[in-house]
Amino acid sequence: MNAQALKDSWRLVARSGDEVPLFFYSALFLMNPETRDLFPVAMASQRDRLVGALGRIVSNVDRVEELVPYLQQLGRDHRKFAVVTEHYPAVGRALLATLEHFLGDRWTPALAEDWTKAYSLVAQVMSDAAADVSKTTPPWWEGEIISHETPALGIAVIRARLNYQYVFRPGQSASISHPRRPRVWRFYSFANAPRQDNTIDLHVRMVDGGVLSAALVMGARRGDVLRVGAPVGDKLKLSPDMPGDLLLIAGGTGLAPLKALVEQVMYEGPSRKVDIVVGARTSRELYDLDALSKMAVEHPWLNVVPAVSNDPYYRGARGNAVDVALQAWRGQQVFVCGSTEMAQSTVGRLLDAGVPSEQIHFDEFTSDKGGES
Ligand SMILES: Cc1cc2nc3c(=O)[nH]c(=O)nc-3n(C[C@H](O)[C@H](O)[C@H](O)COP(=O)(O)OP(=O)(O)OC[C@H]3O[C@@H](n4cnc5c(N)ncnc54)[C@H](O)[C@@H]3O)c2cc1C
Ligand code: HEM
Repeated sequence: MNAQALKDSWRLVARSGDEVPLFFYSALFLMNPETRDLFPVAMASQRDRLVGALGRIVSNVDRVEELVPYLQQLGRDHRKFAVVTEHYPAVGRALLATLEHFLGDRWTPALAEDWTKAYSLVAQVMSDAAADVSKTTPPWWEGEIISHETPALGIAVIRARLNYQYVFRPGQSASISHPRRPRVWRFYSFANAPRQDNTIDLHVRMVDGGVLSAALVMGARRGDVLRVGAPVGDKLKLSPDMPGDLLLIAGGTGLAPLKALVEQVMYEGPSRKVDIVVGARTSRELYDLDALSKMAVEHPWLNVVPAVSNDPYYRGARGNAVDVALQAWRGQQVFVCGSTEMAQSTVGRLLDAGVPSEQIHFDEFTSDKGGES
């Protein structure tokens, strides 16, 4: 298989931008109308999530060994979209038709064969992984909202109780869907360590023009039933053999998974000191400070430092979370979470300040989960 030819051809196709998903979905729905019901109702108003990722992942087939754990997770997670084995050839055909359309003369029999083989390999890993868990794990869990609060403008703190046992690690996230936005799924991080009563907490920030975040913040109510996909992610992992104290740096709702890590330390016993810097633009956006301050009073190993960047009258620490955090750095493991911009700039600053890269653990709230590849 000529992996370079796959990558080069995908790069050429991707140059056509939004035309590509438009063509792909027309081909898919024309050839296999039954697949239309798997996708959100108003697709035109949302960014493409599948096609770009599909081309990128398949054209990286030369790294398939390395990608296997991700593909298995993706395959298992695709059950939440009601994808079954029979759908894979349909998507493969639509992908090939799309490539042929945009590549014109460059679409040769050899290239067609390579794409077919590469797609089949990736699809096989995904559908095998889905089949392996289909008897033991539901495609999604249902979580009844038992509390919904909006402690700051545009931010909701939601607690939901899941219908079956749900095993996850602090620092992980899950894909969530709400009945007001059928078949629209987005990732949200758990803001708690696992509890006996099978409840999870989510912190959701409403994004301008956001399809699901607006529904979760403004529309969701107690009693609504969320759909919750399998837990994913291993970037913010606090293993017991990781030595030393922790410095946690949160931007906005990036606080959620870091608060889960604080709870993990709390449940495992206070073997380390934890400093958590909670960044926000204004003091009004420090939505969870009361709960954190209460934890700090109860647990002397925990130090909570709010950092406000855009409020000259704020009486506490002013500045970006990372600048405030660097003043507290004394060799700890550093965990960072926030928007893509916040996470990238924080990591850059930490590296510049001499924090060793192996001590930096970060995750970012990108809107493109297909970027994992
Ligand atoms: C692993 C992971 C964990 C996440 N955890 C959380 C969490 O705990 N809490 C939380 O609030 N969010 C979290 N997110 C972000 C979340 O998944 C959604 O991307 C976000 O809520 C927007 O979804 P939407 O449907 O409202 O917006 P969309 O309809 O998908 O997007 C609307 C517009 O907003 C832009 N956009 C999308 N996301 C953002 C963003 N985060 N910031 C600025 N602009 C954006 C899009 O590019 C688009 O232009 C996480 C993302 C990932 C990948
Ligand atoms: C090689 C095969 C495939 C790959 C690599 C792939 C990859 C992806 C990725 C990375 C995403 C975004 C993840 C997310 O938002 O959770 C996605 C979304 C999706 N995929 Fe797949 N996929 C494949 C096959 C399929 C098949 C066979 C179907 C069935 C028709 C399917 C249906 C969907 C749907 C419905 C979405 C959500 C789209 C949206 O919200 O707009 N995928 N896929």
